[in-house]
Amino acid sequence: MRNVELKSRDPDPARTLELARRLGASDEGEITQRDTYFGGSRARVKLREQTPGEDELISYRRSDDAQERVSEYVRVAIPDAAALKEALDAAYGTKVVVSKKRHLLLWENVRIHLDEVEGLGSYMELEGLVEGDDDGPARERVERLRRELEIDDANLVSSSYGDLLSDGAAELLDAARVVMRNAHVPYSQFRVGAALRGAGGGIHVATNVENAAYPQSQCAEACAIGVMVAAGETKITAIAVVAENLDICPPCGGCRQRLAEFAGPDTPVHLDESTTTTLGELLPMSFGEAELHA
Ligand code: THU
Repeated sequence: MRNVELKSRDPDPARTLELARRLGASDEGEITQRDTYFGGSRARVKLREQTPGEDELISYRRSDDAQERVSEYVRVAIPDAAALKEALDAAYGTKVVVSKKRHLLLWENVRIHLDEVEGLGSYMELEGLVEGDDDGPARERVERLRRELEIDDANLVSSSYGDLLSDGAAELLDAARVVMRNAHVPYSQFRVGAALRGAGGGIHVATNVENAAYPQSQCAEACAIGVMVAAGETKITAIAVVAENLDICPPCGGCRQRLAEFAGPDTPVHLDESTTTTLGELLPMSFGEAELHA
């Protein structure tokens, strides 16, 4: 299943509701939802418990883009949510729990969500169901609603509620520190861990891997890029690099170039909880595909 989606902060939910009703959106009432997000790297996985409605497991992949974006998802009805939650928590760990009250409206196959999210505030989402292979009609309907509901560009949000609630940087740094323990460093004893968040939301981790023929060694960042590409991801939205022997480990020059292949100048590079720079700061005036084809 695929949707075209848009998310925005909503400074005035009562007015949005009024605008949606005026457009003829049908009012489907309020749903109380609790989404538990689990670990795992290829797609986001959440268990949704809701009243009214059936509990369901939803796995989805979507780019973190503030504009209309396509989300591919699978929904499975779950008869025993509590037991499945326990099993998934044991296997993958719980990342974050998002509790919200959702006022659901429907307009021409677009779901309008007026969400009150615990700890975050008021948001609205548009989800236009894609029928067949062509995203076009769903995109047009979402764009029309975007205008009619007077969504201000300044309020558009690219991240999921889960990412907004869980500190993305802390999660990425933790993942880098955990994987760092596995570094293969018999020659330098210098353990490095790298964690890359892909545009689909997954985290891809690796360590440095050294070799008795020293130049054949590979940096943690280079290995993490390989892991990410093998998982089907080619866009990095955030980077974390840590080393056991350093408070802060600036990525080496070669890895800055490697990372720039998949990330942009604004991509955050987290070096510890209080030190975040960007790839643009680490690699100004970089050489990329644009220069090659200029
Ligand atoms: N190293 C990395 O993994 N990433 C960097 O950005 C800097 C250096 C590794 C390579 C080698 O295994 C060890 O650290 C010492 O240079």
